[in-house]
Amino acid sequence: MMERKKTTFLFLNESDMIKAGVLDTVGCTRVMDEMFALIGRGDYIMSGHNKNSHGALITFPEKSPFPNMPLAGPDRRYMAMPAYLGGRFHMTGVKWYGSNTKNHEKGLPRSVLMVCLNDADTGEPVALMSANLLSSIRTGSVPGVAAKYLAREGAESVGIVGCGVISRSCVRAILNNMPGAKRVCLYDIYRDAAEKFRDEIKAEFDLEYIIKDDLKQCVVDADVISIAASGAVKVRVEEEWLKPGCLFTVTGHAEMDQEFFQNNAIVFDHWPMHKCWLEESLLHEDGIESIRETISTYPVLKMFHEGHIREEELHSLGDIVSGKVPARKNNDERILFISGGMPLEDVAWGFACYEEAVKQGLGQELCLWDGAYWA
Ligand SMILES: NC(=O)c1ccc[n+]([C@@H]2O[C@H](COP(=O)([O-])OP(=O)(O)OC[C@H]3O[C@@H](n4cnc5c(N)ncnc54)[C@H](O)[C@@H]3O)[C@@H](O)[C@H]2O)c1
Repeated sequence: MMERKKTTFLFLNESDMIKAGVLDTVGCTRVMDEMFALIGRGDYIMSGHNKNSHGALITFPEKSPFPNMPLAGPDRRYMAMPAYLGGRFHMTGVKWYGSNTKNHEKGLPRSVLMVCLNDADTGEPVALMSANLLSSIRTGSVPGVAAKYLAREGAESVGIVGCGVISRSCVRAILNNMPGAKRVCLYDIYRDAAEKFRDEIKAEFDLEYIIKDDLKQCVVDADVISIAASGAVKVRVEEEWLKPGCLFTVTGHAEMDQEFFQNNAIVFDHWPMHKCWLEESLLHEDGIESIRETISTYPVLKMFHEGHIREEELHSLGDIVSGKVPARKNNDERILFISGGMPLEDVAWGFACYEEAVKQGLGQELCLWDGAYWA
């Protein structure tokens, strides 16, 4: 009879993850670059009917007959995001999180995230890790990859809109991939957030920093723009504000006119995932309107759905990184880059941190079973 196998896995709490280098934006941007090349070659699988779904979402009703059932609230949801990533990663994993704005009243971050990595062959857990930092850093690193491939030649000015957690890694990733960077303009609805942000980044990048009092002034001179703002005040950008040749990256919500999408090149982190959001929304009783408030690409998806944009005009960063599609046509083209975030990013950066944790002997080994009871 086959001997029953012992299964152990590594538990990595937040401080283990920090020691394993989770905050290293330069390293993460390199890993994201590698991941986009794999996606471009098709060496990945996500969930859903076309294997390109962002994941499965639980939201709550406005009212319920069950006293304990959670009710709808700002940013209140659960999300499971599974993926398999090939290449040297050869790893399956899932990011699982709960989010509730009211967490702040309890001394918790808005969302609480964990990543589980599983052996791609057996399904055994390999690692279970705290993923708040992992998630922020992988999100911010993606515009850095976009800047590497899509910024115009000689790009020297950056505009950062929203000076919060995600923008901290966006700016680091962008500046590390923009060798000619000279100036950074910052804008936040709270000036002190921009000042704090500037002081932190200034210590790492010796550049000129200018805090702007309005959104337009922050973006008019920028060769690379990064928008990662969240809150009740919407970010609305007019096309005529933008310089020819600029790369306009959006991580989160930003509003633009319909013509903006028709007049400029559009690159997604992964168009098939956004298309899958559209297809999934059409199964909902409210149709595409069901994603109006939750999916930042809703305006483009609506235009695509109504036939105002052709699919051939919608590109994916993986196709650019893997050389299937040219990066930019010329130095005057404006490019809109939209990032929706993929579970593949969590598996990729989670795996890299796990490898480093093993090297350093970090974390706690936990035993799932010493031979499964029903093997
Ligand atoms: N694509 C992805 O993978 C992904 C993943 C995580 C988060 N996000 C998105 O990134 C965005 C930022 O998240 P965060 O965690 O950094 O939030 P945060 O709350 O830490 O920071 C947001 C900042 O934006 C500022 N702000 C709000 N409205 C503004 C406006 N109109 N103009 C300028 N500044 C404004 C706030 O004052 C705050 O400083 C959110 O929209 C979030 O949904 C995207």
